[in-house]
Amino acid sequence: MFKIGDKRLDGSWLDGAQARFEKDNDALVLQTRALLARIVPDAPLHGRFINTLSLLEHMGSHKIMATQHGAAIDQATLKHIAEEGHHAYFMKRQAEKAAQRPLEYRPPDLLAAAAARMYFQRLESSLVRMLAAQLSAHAAYLYMSLIVEFRALWFYRLYQHTLKRLGHAMSLKRVLGEEQSHLGDIAHRLAMGGELSNARVTAFLEVEKRLYERVLVAMQRAAG
Ligand SMILES: [Fe+2]
Ligand SMILES: [Fe+2]
Repeated sequence: MFKIGDKRLDGSWLDGAQARFEKDNDALVLQTRALLARIVPDAPLHGRFINTLSLLEHMGSHKIMATQHGAAIDQATLKHIAEEGHHAYFMKRQAEKAAQRPLEYRPPDLLAAAAARMYFQRLESSLVRMLAAQLSAHAAYLYMSLIVEFRALWFYRLYQHTLKRLGHAMSLKRVLGEEQSHLGDIAHRLAMGGELSNARVTAFLEVEKRLYERVLVAMQRAAG
């Protein structure tokens, strides 16, 4: 465990961690790209897919709110809630634009709904179990966010690439910028609290990867 607290050094820890994440997930790039290339040109399917991303963003924002509502809630956490809430809204708007109809967070309007919800629930319960006796609810929130942000950035970059390649008008630039800044902020906050541990991050990312693989398979099946 180390305490740096210098934004530049935290940034270089993060660069290394992101490079390791890329390498560890190399084998999943092709499958993910193939799924995206199958979904994006099919407007009704694409709408359900974006609505599922909206659900995940909404769940993220709601989870932060549900666990961090105390008097000590700080500016960075409020900003994080607001931006995840905005991502949920942005995705909902894009989803309904693609589908040309209103969409609810119900299975017929989602893609692999059960697997998507399970991803979040299982990740959270694994992290809480693995951290339980050691850390505060605040540190658990930071770790959960850190792990999810690694995947979000990786996934949104692939998605952005596919959108561009297929000439789709939707742009994830703002979302990508905000997810990258969340990742930087959260790594910095964990380091400041002396709670950033490579061993923990590695163990959590292993759990997350297995859960992501399940969502991927479920989405491949649902997309047909
Ligand atoms: Fe987000
Ligand atoms: Fe985020």
